[in-house]
Amino acid sequence: MYDVILSRRSIRRFYQKPLDLLLLKKFVNAARLAPSAANLQPLEYIIVMEKKLCAQLFETLGWAAYIQPKWTPSEYERPPAYIVILVKDIKNPYYQRDVGFATENIVLAAEAEGLGSCILCNIDREKIQHIFKIPQPITVDSVIALGYKAEKSVVEEMNDSVKYWRDPQDVLHVPKRKLDDIIHINMFSQK
Ligand SMILES: Cc1cc2nc3c(=O)[nH]c(=O)nc-3n(C[C@H](O)[C@H](O)[C@H](O)COP(=O)(O)O)c2cc1C
Repeated sequence: MYDVILSRRSIRRFYQKPLDLLLLKKFVNAARLAPSAANLQPLEYIIVMEKKLCAQLFETLGWAAYIQPKWTPSEYERPPAYIVILVKDIKNPYYQRDVGFATENIVLAAEAEGLGSCILCNIDREKIQHIFKIPQPITVDSVIALGYKAEKSVVEEMNDSVKYWRDPQDVLHVPKRKLDDIIHINMFSQK
């Protein structure tokens, strides 16, 4: 489990190999069994794998905002499948925490199957609502892109910037804060 947590990185380029519906259902099952505040389970999921719908959904997504000039996956590296996360009741004060747990279960289950994923919140929710005929008051929270990995992403020790970057070989480098910088033992200590 720990190895899966360590190896998962956001992946934004994918091989054009379709994903099995059973595998995608397995990921939603992992989300279904996630912790839920008061066990209210306010989330539902749309599995998207049909080519036309994937193409329509792709148009609503914003990718890798730190990469300049503006970048989106090319026609040959787009995700072959998505899971759209829906919220039945946004009045539930803890729904965003539930989304976090469910999302992490999905991306870790995908990593354990050798798949890449990217969580997307920079999305056009109104358009997604329309494309998939989602009735009010159900709302779109986020989208998870899934597929076989066609890029490499590595962790870097963070110094002064949180911005990820691509090197000339197209490897993505993701700065993460140092462990010693985020741990306080027994008492809060100034860093
Ligand atoms: C709540 C949330 C929203 C995100 N939204 C987007 C997004 O809209 N587009 C995108 O390309 N990446 C998005 N990401 C991925 C982050 O950029 C990524 O997690 C971060 O750079 C750290 O990289 P890592 O996932 O490889 O550890 C999102 C991640 C989270 C947790």
